[in-house]
Amino acid sequence: MGSDPQNAFSSKLDVPEALTFDDVLLRPKESRVEPDDAETRTRVSTNVSLTVPVLSAAMDTVTESEMAIAMARQGGLGVLHRSMDSEAMVEEVQRVKRADELFIRREDVVTASPGQTVEAVDTMMERSGISGAPVVDGDDRVLGIISGTDIRPYLGVGAEDPVSEAMTDEVITAREDVSAREALELMYDHKIERAPIVDEDDRLTGLVTMQGILQRRAYDAAARADDGSLRVGCAVGPFETERARAADAAGADVLFIDCAHAHNLDVIDSARSIRAEASADVVVGNVGTREAAEDLVDFADGLKVGIGPGSICTTRVVTGTGMPQITAIAEVADVASAHDVPVIADGGIRYSGDAIKAIAAGADAVMLGSYFAGTDEAPGRVVTMNGKRYKQYRGMGSVGAMRSGGGERYLREEEGEEDFVPEGVEAATPYKGSVESELHQLVGGMQAGMGYVGAENVPAFKTRSELIRVSSAGQQEGHPHDVVITDEAPNYSPEE
Ligand code: XMP
Repeated sequence: MGSDPQNAFSSKLDVPEALTFDDVLLRPKESRVEPDDAETRTRVSTNVSLTVPVLSAAMDTVTESEMAIAMARQGGLGVLHRSMDSEAMVEEVQRVKRADELFIRREDVVTASPGQTVEAVDTMMERSGISGAPVVDGDDRVLGIISGTDIRPYLGVGAEDPVSEAMTDEVITAREDVSAREALELMYDHKIERAPIVDEDDRLTGLVTMQGILQRRAYDAAARADDGSLRVGCAVGPFETERARAADAAGADVLFIDCAHAHNLDVIDSARSIRAEASADVVVGNVGTREAAEDLVDFADGLKVGIGPGSICTTRVVTGTGMPQITAIAEVADVASAHDVPVIADGGIRYSGDAIKAIAAGADAVMLGSYFAGTDEAPGRVVTMNGKRYKQYRGMGSVGAMRSGGGERYLREEEGEEDFVPEGVEAATPYKGSVESELHQLVGGMQAGMGYVGAENVPAFKTRSELIRVSSAGQQEGHPHDVVITDEAPNYSPEE
């Protein structure tokens, strides 16, 4: 029998309370940390670090390769959704991995042959949008290089002359192990824009360009693997062993076992065997309790937390189950941190303040869906309704996502369309512009929170931050009140 006389009828009513973002605030502390100096580097899984602690959700209206490339260039991580077959997923992984490659690979290099006419090569270069091409013989040996300036407007050479007469035959080449710095120096020294990469037999294996290297340098905070490629995550179903193998072989950095309830013992068995085989890190989710964390920490490279906090989720209303997100993160992080396993807080984050509260509760990184669904890089087109621009955003457990072959995470075996029991809704979210500007606001707000607490980096913030409980009056006080907002701020819009 519970000790509280009000609940004397049944110990079932002697229940603990769980908290979420609006229930808490960070206690301000003495500080010398300026927001710009707060360092946001973090670990998302045992072996993968990010420069900003942010992931885009594995949802078909949020993350495909375009989003993943943009996220990784800004230092975060995009997790590709799994509503596509394995072959398509492999192509998507490769697209991310090749986006910032130092070299253009042989199969993508446009080449000319010595016998082609100058006019034909000119047309070919114009069509491909390039200004120069290596000239190779039938064995792929590099004979020369031809550029627009060699031939346009056919000064000294006739349109029908062969390329061999117009090309520069003293070619500066580089070897496959050249570094970005060496390649740049080589091109500066010889005042050239591109250098063919050749093997020991002088056969063409790629092309390095000045423009490519400079573009790569522009993303100096990008999340990259040791080989310089952008980091990418892939969602795989808990029983999708083949998809996991394919994503791993394609070079995905992190596999995310994507499941609505990862404290299912069959899911754990399967995730454990995927972990045993994969060379990528394996993050398992979603979970929301201490007990789930205890059953996963011995093999998972990361734990993802969130049972029903998402903006498009109806899990809590449909199933009566869930854990308010701050309590869920704190419970899981208590166990995970003791085993040095990173924690990702997934869902329910509306403002930068929510994101930094999630880190204070114990998360190492945060995953967001609705926050990014309205950006240019999210799949889907912009629609205009009543003069305002929106993009589609839907839960992976919504009827629409399940109907289009996704939403397996919420699907029951042999379920026909008429039998769907959805756990999400289909919606629209305001169009927002680029991921870069959204991330700037999100991370900037998080850094400001670190400044208020006096923490210079994420580990220090996790130790130093203290959450305080706020009343609903205190919570209301935190939003603009007693005014009519005249100009929208880039990082705040009132809740509907
Ligand atoms: P936010 O709040 O960032 O949440 O939009 C994104 C996260 O929500 C989860 N998700 C779902 N949860 N039903 C659910 O209960 C759904 O249909 C659904 N779809 C996505 C997912 O964890 C995502 O990262």
